[in-house]
Amino acid sequence: MNISVSRRFTAAAALAALALGGLTGTSASASPAAAAAAPDIPLANVKQHLTDLQSIANANGGNRAHGRTGYKASIDFVKAKLDAAGYTTTIQQFTSNSAVGYNLIADWPGGDPNQVLMAGAHLDSVSSGAGINDNGSGSAAVLETALAVARAGYQPSKHLRFGWWGAEELGLVGSKYYVAQLPTTERAKLSGYLNFDMIGSPNPGYFVYDDDPTIETTFKNYFAGLGVPTEIETEGDGRSDHASFKNVGIPVGGLFTGASRVKTSAQVAKWGGTATAFDRCYHSSCDTTANINDTALDRNSDAVAHAIWALSGTSTPPPTGTVFENTADVSGGSADNIVQTFTVNASSEVANGAWKLRAQDKASVDTGYISGFKLTFP
Ligand code: TRP
Ligand code: CA
Ligand code: ZN
Repeated sequence: MNISVSRRFTAAAALAALALGGLTGTSASASPAAAAAAPDIPLANVKQHLTDLQSIANANGGNRAHGRTGYKASIDFVKAKLDAAGYTTTIQQFTSNSAVGYNLIADWPGGDPNQVLMAGAHLDSVSSGAGINDNGSGSAAVLETALAVARAGYQPSKHLRFGWWGAEELGLVGSKYYVAQLPTTERAKLSGYLNFDMIGSPNPGYFVYDDDPTIETTFKNYFAGLGVPTEIETEGDGRSDHASFKNVGIPVGGLFTGASRVKTSAQVAKWGGTATAFDRCYHSSCDTTANINDTALDRNSDAVAHAIWALSGTSTPPPTGTVFENTADVSGGSADNIVQTFTVNASSEVANGAWKLRAQDKASVDTGYISGFKLTFP
């Protein structure tokens, strides 16, 4: 092992390193493999998708509900972006309540066809409004993450698939249909399904599903790195599309910022906001682009990308001589003077012992729990 660490890790970093152990899909690979860092997902891009979904609702009677014209227009909007980015897209039709419904599936070419990592969100709204938090937010974050995969030319070891579900609001109809029509052999290839339903609530909490421990830990560590406390999601376990996957034994996880439940005073102390509903516009006409907390949407969108990158593995070895170095003057130890921040963890310990720690360039300056180090991959 040839890693030079020029200064001590902080205690928090050491804890993060321990907590992250075992997350990567590359740890058992025969050759050294560096985990590529997930890109920062631009909030402006995610918000533009929400503006576009709002326009679609406005042009279609104010909603994007199953069986209404605004739903199919939403599907066509997302599909066009993915097609232009190089995805292989499929629209799947089903019938519910005597109306045709649609799922959109997008496959990113490449990766191991026997190990598929999937992320999804329901794209339908209720009929009373545009459904921008529920669930334009999850739909837009998954879309922008898929586009970021294309921009990065990311070629992970797993195959990536993204899904947008119809008729969730009628009882998870689209995702149940998708899972039901998947042959058992195809279900077995799904290494995980990540669900994003309501991730920009105006009075947000930061809830992580506690279904699969590896996925849960991946999200929790991301938020720990931001210094944002999380809680386990309990507002109606099974009330979104991950349940369709979980019910057939597929590992699931996801994020949620709260619906009609009221934020407690303890949660206000933890996250700010007010002791009112997480989303006072839940299933109402006021669920518009004004019904979004930008900070929550940004953090959760970045967390989507982080999980996709962290859980999909990579086949890119670190180039010989690569040095990750923090260039900041860290003598003060304050987060403010850190120019570059890395998450260091022990998860990339590889069989041949060529290197043992991995630095993930977070490409942002919003965390400061490790500082003043240098890793060398000789
Ligand atoms: N799925 C619900 C909806 O679309 C919202 C919801 C309630 C939810 N509880 C949840 C989503 C827990 C995810 C997790 O109306
Ligand atoms: Ca971001
Ligand atoms: Zn809903």
